Amino acid sequence: MTVTALCPGSFDPATNGHVDILSRCLSMYDRVIAAVVVNPSKTPLFSLEERIAFLTELVPGLEVRSFSGLLVDAASDWDASVIVKGLRGSADFEYEQQMAHMNRHLTGIDTVFLPSSPEMMFVSSSLVKEVSALGGDVSALVPGTVHDAMKERHVG
Ligand code: PNS
Repeated sequence: MTVTALCPGSFDPATNGHVDILSRCLSMYDRVIAAVVVNPSKTPLFSLEERIAFLTELVPGLEVRSFSGLLVDAASDWDASVIVKGLRGSADFEYEQQMAHMNRHLTGIDTVFLPSSPEMMFVSSSLVKEVSALGGDVSALVPGTVHDAMKERHVG
């Protein structure tokens, strides 16, 4: 039986924390889909196409798709049997636990939590964007291609 895992997120942009979780997920499941959310109420720094391109290039073997609407519907459409989320700490857990219960309530799909690698526990897309926009060095926190694109976006 092929087990497909779904790793959803905004990925705006992908960080080394995302790469950590997605790579580890790939070593555990037969098929892993990174599900990039289309959220019309948010204005992302990077377009959907750019976010998909980063992930596709960064994590070989990963399937990258976009979805709008409910995550559980995308999971059903793509035959995913598990949702995988990274947890950086207790604040993530509080929020993620609620979503995990809601998703299980909706269709019965379960969520597996992977602890972030310790060196990634403080890394988030939003903090990385803020620090980068204010001139801070985030080169150790995001992949090189993402770093170059961020520099271009903020400075160029
Ligand atoms: O990277 P993010 O922004 O923290 O990802 C959040 C995401 C995309 C996982 C979450 O917002 C989501 O699942 N959105 C899809 C809409 C949905 O299913 N909402 C109900 C969640 S219980």
